[in-house]
Amino acid sequence: MNVADLPPQGSAPILEDKTRGVFRVRRSVFTDPAVLERERRVLFAHCWLYAAHESELAAPASFVARNVGGRPLLLNRDRQGHLNAFFNSCRHRGALVCREDRGRARNFTCPYHGWVYGDDGRLLHQPIDTSYTDACKSDPALGLKRVARVETSSGFIFVCFDAAAMALDDYLAGAAEYLKLISSQGPDGMEIVGGTQKYCAHANWKLLQENSVDGYHAESTHATYLGYIRNREGTVLNNYGQAFGQVRNLGNGHAVSESVNATPWGRPCARWMPSWGEDVKAELDRNFAEIASRIGEEQATFLCRGDRNMLIFPNLIVNDVSGLTIRVVYPVRHDYFEVNAWALAAKGESARIRDLRLKNYVEFLGPGGLATPDDQEMLELCQRGYAADPEEGWNDLSRGMADEQQGRANKVDEFQLRVFWRRWAELMQREPELAR
Ligand code: FES
Ligand code: FE
Repeated sequence: MNVADLPPQGSAPILEDKTRGVFRVRRSVFTDPAVLERERRVLFAHCWLYAAHESELAAPASFVARNVGGRPLLLNRDRQGHLNAFFNSCRHRGALVCREDRGRARNFTCPYHGWVYGDDGRLLHQPIDTSYTDACKSDPALGLKRVARVETSSGFIFVCFDAAAMALDDYLAGAAEYLKLISSQGPDGMEIVGGTQKYCAHANWKLLQENSVDGYHAESTHATYLGYIRNREGTVLNNYGQAFGQVRNLGNGHAVSESVNATPWGRPCARWMPSWGEDVKAELDRNFAEIASRIGEEQATFLCRGDRNMLIFPNLIVNDVSGLTIRVVYPVRHDYFEVNAWALAAKGESARIRDLRLKNYVEFLGPGGLATPDDQEMLELCQRGYAADPEEGWNDLSRGMADEQQGRANKVDEFQLRVFWRRWAELMQREPELAR
């Protein structure tokens, strides 16, 4: 196919030619503010979005306040034990009611004029309320507005701003099974460790979604990190470049890329590295046996010895690799995104394993680690490169098109990226109210 054969600007953003094994994405989807406007109306207003993990709201009266899909939310566990998701905006004149990121609170007092809301969202008090009519004071619409939908899957809390959206389990499709598997790393469940890691990049948000499940870039972008690990650990699991693993389309734009015993780092779940020492090896063996007793030897091998990078459409990534991270990206502008990321770990694991887990997490996945800054740099280079030909430029994502048609896909191909883009294009072409 020649560039001259490509559709003109203003037509389809995706070009797919199965006969010739070509898949291309128009670069204007990364550079056009109008595309972002439509993404906000079509995707972020109708898709299920990750908001928090249940472990963050385990204690009575606990809350977290964070932006989800660009909207300030307040999620809490009220005194009755119910999980609530409110918009963090006062019903009086709109101020953020809660200014803390997390904590415990039975009531929420707006800092502007002092309206007080209960932990169930009801308006409890208006200072100097003699100036309000009884009808106004008792109006239930003055309580904190609830987000239309909030549901959980294996401890992952999702919200949706569309009351008519499909159920979360249906939306997650095959990804729900993976969330369940990933959450089997400890007998007592999983917990978020520490706070939120926040970082940003001057690039389009979709570039991070692509990058997070792209195995093709690892050997070049992460040469420093991979060289460091190989030097440290000797020849153990030194076959990353040859280990293709597999990729699965999980439905609704979600995809996972995975492999077993094919990456050079250790997994605190239960894949030992020489530098961790013999005492840790014995403990990881016990961990493996415990996990196998719950989910079976085969699944335990897959979980503990394997790595997986999962994209949940549109903006969630769960990377279960050297560490376990939950990562959400949101586009502040078409060329600037912000990330919230959290480390997830098995509850009750020993201090030694927890220490290794967090070191591993920070070393590779942390915003100041040996890998994430490299990725950020590449995404910004892409965004800058798009200025070369903003009207007519295309990205090529054709790797593995022929294999895909034979039902095969490996993690250094771009099948997982195409899963994302096909869903993106399908929803973006619909009217906003139908993008469910
Ligand atoms: Fe909240 Fe006035 S804006 S009390
Ligand atoms: Fe990377």
